Amino acid sequence: MVPGAEKGERESGAGSMRVIEITRPGGPEVLRLAERPLPEPGRGELRVRVTVSGVNRADLLQRRGRYPAPPGVPPDVPGLEFSGEVDRVGEGCRLRSVGERVMGILGGGGYSESVLLPEREAIRVPEKLSLEEAGAIPEVFLTAWDALFLQAGLQAGETVLIHAVGSGVGTAALQLARAAGAITVGTSRTRAKVDRALSMGLDHGLTIDEGASWAEPVHDLLSGRGVDVILDLVGAAYLEDNQAVLSERARWVVVGVPGGGKGTLDLRRMMVKRASLRGTVLRARPPEEKATLAREFERVVIPLFASARLHPVVDRILPATKAAEAHRRMEANRSFGKLLLSWRESESHES
Ligand SMILES: NC(=O)c1ccc[n+]([C@@H]2O[C@H](COP(=O)([O-])OP(=O)(O)OC[C@H]3O[C@@H](n4cnc5c(N)ncnc54)[C@H](OP(=O)(O)O)[C@@H]3O)[C@@H](O)[C@H]2O)c1
Repeated sequence: MVPGAEKGERESGAGSMRVIEITRPGGPEVLRLAERPLPEPGRGELRVRVTVSGVNRADLLQRRGRYPAPPGVPPDVPGLEFSGEVDRVGEGCRLRSVGERVMGILGGGGYSESVLLPEREAIRVPEKLSLEEAGAIPEVFLTAWDALFLQAGLQAGETVLIHAVGSGVGTAALQLARAAGAITVGTSRTRAKVDRALSMGLDHGLTIDEGASWAEPVHDLLSGRGVDVILDLVGAAYLEDNQAVLSERARWVVVGVPGGGKGTLDLRRMMVKRASLRGTVLRARPPEEKATLAREFERVVIPLFASARLHPVVDRILPATKAAEAHRRMEANRSFGKLLLSWRESESHES
């Protein structure tokens, strides 16, 4: 439990809400349950009573003081996504109404019982899904879908290499790529995660030992061919081998760099392969871009959840008061899929 939780603060008072705040830069022990005034939605904004808040790597960095929140969001409350029910609409809202089930991404402040967001950035939750399941969707499916299709232009029949395939983004990318008819290759440093990904339909899985080269095994799996798209969730540690597995006109998208951000790129090899390399982030995008992405995601991807071609992958749902435990689990690379924090105290379970 985070400090504050044992004092019996199970319900927030009228006009206030509970949040998990970062008391100072540091380890998971710096997280604390606190009360803040309930915010009022401004023009075009919704207020959502949150069911679950998603946990992301960025939250761990923010907690350590290494990823400051952008302007306009609380600097000391982490959290980039939520699911819940609209409980108040601001003036001028036309798309959503009170009681609607929505999910979405935020610039920060997501570890809260209530959040505000522009109504155009809210994404409808399909009827088939519970709000807990929906909480595992926004950040990882938006990131994977945007990177694979809008940025890398992945096509049916092409081969995509997904690093850290057991991660939240990795498990989302695997399902999206399969649904689009791509051939999937996935890596992890953990054998059990590769096995779980294979059971989800991954075509080729590879367990990578720390520091080992893996380009040759990938070529072996693909009968000597390279890959058309790389979804890079690791960064510098795999830079050399990534260059070695590019096929003609490959597209390589850097989404995360837990394995470091600096290394050596052989420009001649990129040129000869006519390959492209790009980086992406969601958090820093301007509101208009986020709204456009949310609207397009709702139109194109949400129906695939409704028809059960895509499934949220939930690692664990912990009470929000156990945010520190969730951070420790993610930091130790033990999760498969999404870690979620529930504001309905009784609902806490493991997958
Ligand atoms: N650009 C964006 O907008 C955006 C949005 C969301 C997420 N991200 C980034 O995307 C990545 C995945 O996010 P997530 O929330 O899905 O993460 P996650 O569920 O916490 O999984 C990350 C996995 O990466 C693997 N990993 C960690 N450090 C590694 C290293 N040094 N070398 C190789 N593998 C390593 C671990 O699996 P194994 O050790 O078992 O392989 C770990 O479980 C993160 O880096 C995150 O920051 C970026």
